[in-house]
Amino acid sequence: MGNESEIKQAAALLKQARSIGCLTGAGISAESGVATFRDALTGLWAHFDPQRLASQEGFAQDPGLVWRWYMERLQMVERAQPNPGHVALAQLEQWAPAFSLFTQNVDDLHERAGSRQIYHLHGSIARFRCNICAVEHPLQPAERDAPQPPACRHCGGPVRPAVVWFGELLPAAVLAAARHVASHCDLFLVVGTSGVVYPAAELPSLARRSGAMVIDVNPEPGPMADEADLFLQGPGGQILPDLLAAMRS
Ligand code: OAD
Repeated sequence: MGNESEIKQAAALLKQARSIGCLTGAGISAESGVATFRDALTGLWAHFDPQRLASQEGFAQDPGLVWRWYMERLQMVERAQPNPGHVALAQLEQWAPAFSLFTQNVDDLHERAGSRQIYHLHGSIARFRCNICAVEHPLQPAERDAPQPPACRHCGGPVRPAVVWFGELLPAAVLAAARHVASHCDLFLVVGTSGVVYPAAELPSLARRSGAMVIDVNPEPGPMADEADLFLQGPGGQILPDLLAAMRS
């Protein structure tokens, strides 16, 4: 990568940071084979209409289609393995005096890579709840192949994945924690997000306005690169291990 000097600068900033906030998006899971949303070639949505699938309206209109789409994505996530980018962030957490990871991703690859202080801004595809009474619903094996969503054992309502759909609010406590960290950290690391979905996308500029240095890691320059003090162009699975190696040298 032609980033050698930026990598060295970023490593120096990470080494002297007392508290680090981190925001990840679908891009960090791309090298694990989990499709992103908007990448033209691999994006999930190249083949699906997100409004039809990730919304109350879509679920009401065709609960079976939505259920089967999420069962497919759950299987894709379960087959995936954390990549070196996920592992590097887990190592960075071990190293840093204070490190909080906010992910927009609904997969559990950060958990499986060993990260601990993880906040899911958009929920988790591996957890399920009733769409009516919100009671948690542990998925039964037979329900994975069912053509329709299971019925809530508490109220009989349709069960849905515990992810944030279009038009739904983010979990308030998680968003408050993210805003608190962005406002108080001294370094904010952004990896693999197109930065077009709010309120998650506001975090880097909030961090910068609050005096933090912002580093963006992405193969493509985008809105997040414009917000960053340092833009490291390349895949997370390459750049993040390089960053950790530079911190050790
Ligand atoms: P997107 O699909 O919008 O953006 C993926 C980003 O990852 C792009 O900027 C790519 O350039 C970048 N990328 C691709 N490969 C990469 C790699 N190997 N390493 C690093 N970056 C890479 O996904 P998000 O920004 O996460 O919300 O989308 C944000 C939200 O939009 C999602 O959480 C979802 C969707 O609405 C909900 O489902 C609520």
